[in-house]
Amino acid sequence: MIAPERLSAERARQLDAADPLTAYRERFVITDPDLIYLDGNSLGRLPRATLAVLTDVIRLQWGERLVRSWGEGWFEAANRIGGKIGRLLGAADGEIVLADSTSVNLFKLVSAALAAQPGRHTILTDDLNFPSDLYILQGIAQRAGSEYRIRVVPSSDGINGPAEAITAALDEDTALVTLSHTVFKSGYTYDMAAVTQAAHRAGALTLWDLSHSAGSVPVALNGAAADLAVGCTYKYLNGGPGAPAFLYVRRDLQAALPNPISGWIGQREPFDFAPDYAPAAGIQHFLSGTPPILSLAAVEPGVDLLLEAGMAQLRERSIRLSEYFIDLWESQLAPLGFRLQSPRDPAWRGSHVSIGHDDAWRINLALIHDMKVLPDFRRPDNIRIGIAPLYNTFTDLHQAVARMRQVVVGRHYERHDGAATKVT
Ligand SMILES: Cc1ncc(COP(=O)(O)O)c(C=O)c1O
Repeated sequence: MIAPERLSAERARQLDAADPLTAYRERFVITDPDLIYLDGNSLGRLPRATLAVLTDVIRLQWGERLVRSWGEGWFEAANRIGGKIGRLLGAADGEIVLADSTSVNLFKLVSAALAAQPGRHTILTDDLNFPSDLYILQGIAQRAGSEYRIRVVPSSDGINGPAEAITAALDEDTALVTLSHTVFKSGYTYDMAAVTQAAHRAGALTLWDLSHSAGSVPVALNGAAADLAVGCTYKYLNGGPGAPAFLYVRRDLQAALPNPISGWIGQREPFDFAPDYAPAAGIQHFLSGTPPILSLAAVEPGVDLLLEAGMAQLRERSIRLSEYFIDLWESQLAPLGFRLQSPRDPAWRGSHVSIGHDDAWRINLALIHDMKVLPDFRRPDNIRIGIAPLYNTFTDLHQAVARMRQVVVGRHYERHDGAATKVT
């Protein structure tokens, strides 16, 4: 039993005051201090610096410099910011670039990996993977006729990744293993190095979806010898809605992997306007069309904040915050019927914690509409508590739990009929 004083509001304030990283909260636009935002794993908050950066890009670079800006930094932006994301993810300069969406990048890299693995026809994944990733795989397999087989390894409990079963399923037909490094519902995080090593022993390549890991858990792409990766920038990287995604291709693989969307920006000499495609060297040939400069520019300030604060320190804070939340769950929410639907051991968990309840959907609606708490919801019964270590605080979590209790004890959720909002 956790001593009540360890979970008091005063104690939450003390924990916030004692942590120097709490100051990073001030670097974000927070217009309503009473709103508890726990959805940074879906859409990260707006960094204050982004306002100034975008004003400059729009007023000066676009408004005044016009087309000259392409030669004054715009063409390099996708690589420059990719290099910074590489520093967060343990990749070298020239191994990460920003382009397109995560789904499109996944399409490009899965197609490229399959082309580089002739004679192998199985793609291994799990049933915890993000649906868009599975849809992209299905689309690729469908276009290839009956050539490819997607093997979706099931999780035994819907929480933990089936790492052992995936390793056991590897064979000489496995072309690619593709997984979400941190899975979107439960927050389970794979051991990237172990899975990659097993895949390599079987001659398979690995492709990691880092959408829920980038900016929340330390990732060592090179250290794990990972082959390929993709990920969103609008979650813990705080790049803004629909911000371009990133893709990673290990340097020694780059020349051998063809981009199936062989557009002019990935051409060796785009401004020669030659009729035939020849791929640019390095990561550049994974670009296809003109980079979206406004949304690209918006990614950089959030990445700079993470680099400044340091991933190791942020991870440590994320664990302290999520362990604190789980302590609160255990003493104050579990007795009200809430279930923990994330791994209990932080070593296997990213930076969000899922809790379930028989009335989870209506509770989630009551939190959003009546209580100024914004978590998100993933069917059938996961309320995801996204804990962004750059701006969430112990006080946020303390207040969120108090409001959750209020919703359930006061039966406020019964007023909601379950009408769905589109995105939460
Ligand atoms: C793990 C994961 N992969 C892929 C995607 C899809 O990203 P996009 O919409 O940028 O293609 C998401 C979106 O939330 C995600 O959470």
